[in-house]
Amino acid sequence: MLSLVSKEIEYYVQKNTTQLPNYLLDLIEETYKSCNSPQMISGQIEGNLLKFIVWTTNAKKVLDIGTFTGFSAQMMASALPDDGKVITCETNTKHAQIAKKYFDKSPHGHKIQLILGPAINTIKKLSEYFDVIFIDADKSSYKNYYDAALNLISDRGLIVIDNVLWGGKVLNPIDKTDHNINNFNSYVANDNRVEQVILPIRDGVMLVKKSTNIT
Ligand SMILES: C[S@@+](CC[C@H](N)C(=O)[O-])C[C@H]1O[C@@H](n2cnc3c(N)ncnc32)[C@H](O)[C@@H]1O
Repeated sequence: MLSLVSKEIEYYVQKNTTQLPNYLLDLIEETYKSCNSPQMISGQIEGNLLKFIVWTTNAKKVLDIGTFTGFSAQMMASALPDDGKVITCETNTKHAQIAKKYFDKSPHGHKIQLILGPAINTIKKLSEYFDVIFIDADKSSYKNYYDAALNLISDRGLIVIDNVLWGGKVLNPIDKTDHNINNFNSYVANDNRVEQVILPIRDGVMLVKKSTNIT
């Protein structure tokens, strides 16, 4: 993966960004020991960004599409009030098992509900509004998740989409996933229902909100 910043800057940012509690450091360690693609975990820097987004939007309800071992769900849950809720979607039972083990160790775990099964099926059954929706599951379904998210996001809510720079491969797309992500970015850029910004943090994080038509 193309690194968007130098290793030294990444380390400096990590060192000067709020550190993680021990139970999340243990979760990262177990993810690296027992999962095939541990780098999928969003990690300290992006995790803190998600926490800030939930905090600043005064969110009460969050939808997390792509649980993996539960790191993003945990970071977002930690910024919710005690009666807040994160619904997190995952297909892989091993990932879900690890996630649940660490939800039980977390003081915020009671706010998180994991729903096992293809995320699109789960989302179709939801009728409530969400203040933050984080899209981070299979890249081939990004457009479907985004269209569904636009129907579920509250008026002042934010949709957050991970991996939109795809290791820099959006600049010169070659394989199917490169094209999917590149096409997805163009789709959002041409969608006048929304306003959006791409942050070159980690693998690229896009923030989307409903258009306010203020110019
Ligand atoms: C990039 S990881 C998510 C990382 C997580 N958000 C975090 O911050 O640590 C993507 C996850 O989506 C799951 N996934 C893939 N396809 C899915 C689908 N159709 N429905 C639900 N989950 C899916 C994968 O099993 C994987 O655990």
